Amino acid sequence: MHAIVIDKPGGPEALQWREVPDPELGRGDVLIDVAASAVNRADVFQRLGFYDPPPGAPPYPGLECSGVVSEVGPDVEGFAPGDRVCALLSGGGYAEKVAVPWQQVMRVPDGVDLVEAAGLPEVACTVWSNVFMTARLRKGETLLVHGGASGIGTLAVQLAKAFGSRVVVTAGSPEKIARCLELGADEGIDYRREDFAEKVKADVILDIMGGKYLPGNVKALKTGGRLVVIGMQGGAKGELDLGALLTKRASVHGTTLRARPVDEKGVIVRGVVDNVWPLVDAGVIRPVVYARVPMRDAAEAHRILESGDHIGKILLVS
Ligand SMILES: NC(=O)c1ccc[n+]([C@@H]2O[C@H](COP(=O)([O-])OP(=O)(O)OC[C@H]3O[C@@H](n4cnc5c(N)ncnc54)[C@H](OP(=O)(O)O)[C@@H]3O)[C@@H](O)[C@H]2O)c1
Repeated sequence: MHAIVIDKPGGPEALQWREVPDPELGRGDVLIDVAASAVNRADVFQRLGFYDPPPGAPPYPGLECSGVVSEVGPDVEGFAPGDRVCALLSGGGYAEKVAVPWQQVMRVPDGVDLVEAAGLPEVACTVWSNVFMTARLRKGETLLVHGGASGIGTLAVQLAKAFGSRVVVTAGSPEKIARCLELGADEGIDYRREDFAEKVKADVILDIMGGKYLPGNVKALKTGGRLVVIGMQGGAKGELDLGALLTKRASVHGTTLRARPVDEKGVIVRGVVDNVWPLVDAGVIRPVVYARVPMRDAAEAHRILESGDHIGKILLVS
């Protein structure tokens, strides 16, 4: 098969389309003929040499894919050759084939084409596990989503609205805020002009900035609030005002999805299929796709992501 390999960490040009050995099908694995994958911010960190795949994962980038099952290994439950699926991966999505534990495989939701489906698993699993399983966002509560126009943000806005929350986003331009409002957000804050911590009080905050936003996030939490940090685009370290945290009886969580064991990913994936997919089937939640790029041109897709112009997901079509 062909895959995108990274011989040496560096700029987008480090991503090279090469012939590589086919994946081996292990016990409990599903082999997928990949129709598409999608770009995540984490793939850029992997390309730069800052985010190695966890042990046992394929060396190629790509945390999600869609495609058709070509083979199943022993002990696989619920999938058979010919099934149209999408999957949460530990790596290896930028390839023509990938082997993945069956627990991380999902049906393609109704009304979503096979290529579009590639952009759903990572964002759906991240938002479901953090906002709903960890932070337990409830109907009527306010969710603050930093980077509302990101791949993660566009799904978080739609899902939280569908579950009856008030949603506030931050974004870096009026155009991006307008798109978030179209997706259902109640309010948008242009972080280049305004300080979000002065403007919003939230029950739950989904944060991708890390250290830089920690003081503002704690300030913006309501009593009993839950801050979930999933990214460190503003650095790994920041000052935590424990006095404010204790007084508010608030909590700070940090998580990553990629390194979780298969069983934990399986619980998240089942939660997504049971709770998120029905909303996608019904058209309440739609994949937000910014561009479709041929997979062999993954370098171009990374340039688009790093330009920061995109809203939603950039797909890599096999
Ligand atoms: N921990 C996990 O398991 C996990 C899983 C998936 C993703 N993530 C993280 O989630 C984040 C989003 O991922 P993605 O793939 O969706 O990336 P993406 O589409 O490239 O989004 C990055 C976003 O960062 C926003 N941003 C930059 N500076 C900002 C600031 N000062 N305030 C608010 N937003 C700012 C950008 O918004 P503007 O363009 O509007 O400036 C952009 O929308 C990344 O940090 C990624 O590492 C974590």
